[in-house]
Amino acid sequence: MRYPFDRLVRADAVVVGSGIGGLTAALAMAPRRVLVITKGDPGGGSTPWAQGGIAAAVAAADSPADHAADTVAVGGGLNDPAAVEVLTADAPRRVAALEALGVRFDTGPDGKVLLGREGGHQHRRVLHSGGDATGAEMMRALVRAAAAAAHVETLPFAFAADLVRDGARVVGVTARTDDGEKVLALAPAVVLGTGGIGRLYANTTNPPEVTGDGLAMAARAAAALADLEFVQFHPTALASGRDPMALLTEALRGEGAVLVDDAGDRFMVGHHPDAELAPRDVVARAIWARLEAGRRVYLDATAAVGASFPERFPTVFALCREDGIDPRVEPVPVAPAAHYHMGGVATGLDGRASLPGLWAVGEVSCTGAHGANRLASNSLLEATVFGQRAGEAVRAAGAPPVEATAAFAAADPGPAPGDLSEVVAQVRRTMWHRVGVVRDGPGLTAAVERLGELEGRLPPAASEARNMVEAGRLIARAALARGESRGAHFRSDFPAPAPPGEEAAP
Ligand code: SIN
Repeated sequence: MRYPFDRLVRADAVVVGSGIGGLTAALAMAPRRVLVITKGDPGGGSTPWAQGGIAAAVAAADSPADHAADTVAVGGGLNDPAAVEVLTADAPRRVAALEALGVRFDTGPDGKVLLGREGGHQHRRVLHSGGDATGAEMMRALVRAAAAAAHVETLPFAFAADLVRDGARVVGVTARTDDGEKVLALAPAVVLGTGGIGRLYANTTNPPEVTGDGLAMAARAAAALADLEFVQFHPTALASGRDPMALLTEALRGEGAVLVDDAGDRFMVGHHPDAELAPRDVVARAIWARLEAGRRVYLDATAAVGASFPERFPTVFALCREDGIDPRVEPVPVAPAAHYHMGGVATGLDGRASLPGLWAVGEVSCTGAHGANRLASNSLLEATVFGQRAGEAVRAAGAPPVEATAAFAAADPGPAPGDLSEVVAQVRRTMWHRVGVVRDGPGLTAAVERLGELEGRLPPAASEARNMVEAGRLIARAALARGESRGAHFRSDFPAPAPPGEEAAP
């Protein structure tokens, strides 16, 4: 039989993506043989950009129950209680596991771990590394562990194009490498760990490779998806003209930095009892309203952090200095930016998706733990908790290898696309203006239509641009269907939440 690919790889599992979710899952699968397919170098994606930290109830005054209560309060009542319980109860164990892997959390002079505070948390419970370089430190340890693991093989610089199905079962992935090789990877378990959708938006804190690939692949394979309308906009991205925008970690507000507008008004006071530490959606909309009214908004950390900025927040300090701003002595201009997707591939508590053979971990998944809005610093946590559970479940399942059948003759990743940057730019503008911080019915309808037109301009083979258009349309449709405001999803034509019991999208 002649197959339309250059290389066939067989493994016990294929993991697509090499962030914290994917690599945690891959490591937990030992001794099963795992192929990790990743678009760039292992360790790229959003994880190394994560600043704030990882939330866990490790303080004596704290408890997983308090952590769970905060997670649900921010999540707008849509959280899955079982997923929240797993997330918050496993958190201290996963922190210990990360330390055992070599992750160094910041400690004080007494050797005790330092805990930061962020919006929506009733306690200080955010562990961090290198001040504001938590994700980078985790990736350092995970990439090193994966490189040393005999059961993990990595295929870098390879774009995973599509899931391969045999009937209802997912049995593999097609991919194109940067040097043009077409690959078919067959395995009884395929784990998506491809991250979120930040690049779909003109303003985002996410790196350029975060293009909704796993979401679009899962949709094309007809896997169940959930909560797609819930996109989190981080309130404080550095408004200095960068693309992507630099994140100004919420931990700055946790240390007392305040938001002011160009009239000197500290507008979060009186707007919410927790002022700058209100849930992210509340702060993001308040900033948005000021900007729409023609004002400028600044994060002022001069009093709260001041001279200690370079030691306490070295990443943010360096980014500001690159743009000619000295946050020790001057307020920093800010604006909201797309940051995190609560929705994704619907999974159970062990990462299993609706199609046999398919799993999802990290931001591409929707475990239900976040509900309509994610609590700060619960993202690295969710990825490590559910990545570990998925890896263990794949290892325990121990399904037999996949044999090549005639169906795989159609498993062609297609040719690499040409330059689609103009379509990509239009997707990003459409999503920002129509499916952004504040939405309404006519704007969402226009977005669905516009994205449909853009899809018509794309070559049929899978590409980042195609994934962005398809994922964008799914998000816009879900936002149109939810005729209420809840969590991160705000509709100016339905500004209130639906009454209890009527929350589900029609
Ligand atoms: C931040 O540091 O503000 C981002 C952390 C997160 O997204 O939870």
